[in-house]
Amino acid sequence: MKVLEIEPGGRYVDGTLGRAGHARGMIERGAKVLGIDRDDEAVTEVKALGLAELEVVKGNHGDLAEIARSHGWTEVDGVLLDLGVSSPQLDEAERGFSFMREGPLDMRMDRDKGPTAADLVNGLDASELAAILKELGEEPRSRQIAGAIVKARARGRIETTLRLAEIVERAVGGRRGAHHPATRTFQALRMKVNDELGELERALTGALELLKPGGRLAVITFESLSDRTVKSFFAAHAGREVSLQAGGSRWEGMLPKVKAVTRKAIKAAEEETGTNPRARSAKLRAVEKEKV
Ligand SMILES: C[S@@+](CC[C@H](N)C(=O)[O-])C[C@H]1O[C@@H](n2cnc3c(N)ncnc32)[C@H](O)[C@@H]1O
Repeated sequence: MKVLEIEPGGRYVDGTLGRAGHARGMIERGAKVLGIDRDDEAVTEVKALGLAELEVVKGNHGDLAEIARSHGWTEVDGVLLDLGVSSPQLDEAERGFSFMREGPLDMRMDRDKGPTAADLVNGLDASELAAILKELGEEPRSRQIAGAIVKARARGRIETTLRLAEIVERAVGGRRGAHHPATRTFQALRMKVNDELGELERALTGALELLKPGGRLAVITFESLSDRTVKSFFAAHAGREVSLQAGGSRWEGMLPKVKAVTRKAIKAAEEETGTNPRARSAKLRAVEKEKV
């Protein structure tokens, strides 16, 4: 709320509405909010709250600018993205996001659109699977795990979360360290199924387009690939002054121009991570669109 400088009467887009925790914070400060989420359950639940200052739209934040304009939101004071999965998505076994809970291997945030994680795990060849695990999970044992998946599915389609978690655990030789051995595999599949990095790039571009000069864009990420995407997008739009031989300087960078609001990523304080351990990996970065 502080980083976005929420003002009474201001208009904000929340591109990851979830259960409207942030949106309610904005409304309590006198703002109007357009909330977008691709998850039907989130949209239905929040619509049922009947908040007068909140317009709820089911959609993909990759289409943020188009969705906003088509609902009459042509210029806004701020945009928030709080990326990744929500707690309800993680906690509901039937959504298939968790390697701790038995459920169908689904992982789609929008269940109207395929393919599911099971489709990928059972349909891709070993090299395609390994590439996804390496690129989107930064999994060092991607080939080993992909090989084990292909071998296991020859005995029957891999349909559930716990079966996949067990295959991965066996492939890497059991548990080591604090994280479950399937953590990176599940992250990679989730990011692929939902094209999270692609949608993030499109959302960032759309958000800058939609912001008023002086408006702010704040993004919270929970894993390093999305954080890197945000950091380099912000750096490209913050540009740099290059000195010219003939004197003077030229600005090099992408438009629209922004300036950093957060010098380094902001992390949750211990006070928060103590009661909400999922906040441990959260990083918040923000920029302000420059007045031209
Ligand atoms: C971490 S939760 C956000 C929680 C929210 N800030 C709150 O206060 O309740 C992320 C939400 O973003 C949604 N989401 C993720 N990617 C999306 C996308 N590309 N387009 C729209 N919604 C998306 C998920 O469905 C999920 O509900």
